[in-house]
Amino acid sequence: MTIGIASDHGGYELKEKLVKLLKEDYQLNDYGAHHLNPNDDYPDYVLPLAKALASGEIDRGIAICGSGVGACMVANKIKGVRAALINETYSAHQGVEHDDMNIICIGARVVGDIYAQEIIRAFLKASYSGEERHERRLRKLKQIEQGNS
Ligand code: RB5
Repeated sequence: MTIGIASDHGGYELKEKLVKLLKEDYQLNDYGAHHLNPNDDYPDYVLPLAKALASGEIDRGIAICGSGVGACMVANKIKGVRAALINETYSAHQGVEHDDMNIICIGARVVGDIYAQEIIRAFLKASYSGEERHERRLRKLKQIEQGNS
C-alpha cells in the first residue's frame, strides 16, 4: 500500500514525525510542506495529495492542518476522494470499513502526537467491508458526486 501525506504549517511538526514512523512500514509519498513556513496555505499541499489519490498514485492519504478542517474541505473537492476529519480511533477504522474513506484529515492542534499515531494506525490497518449495504450507500454517494442525484 502506498500512502501519501501532506500538511501546512499547522500540521508540519506532526507530519515530520509521522513521515519518519510510517516510512518504516509503508511506501510513503510526502507532498509537503517540505519546510516550516508560517505563511503557507493548506490547499497548496492538500490538493496535490488529493489528486494523487484520485489518480491512483497513492492508495490512502493523510492530510494535516491545525484543526484538520481546511485540509478536509480541500480534499473533498476532488472527485474520487472520500475524506473525513477524524480525531479519534473508532471513526478512523469505521470510516474505512463502512464508507471506504480514503483520506484521513487530522487536526495537529487538536490531538497529541501519540494519539495521532494511534488514529493513523487504525486508519491504515482498516479495510473496506464491501458489504451490500455499504456498497449501496457508496453508489448513492458516487451518484451525488457525478451530479446525478
Ligand atoms: C493555519 O494557521 C490554520 O488556519 C490551518 O492549519 C487550519 O487549521 C485550517 O483549517
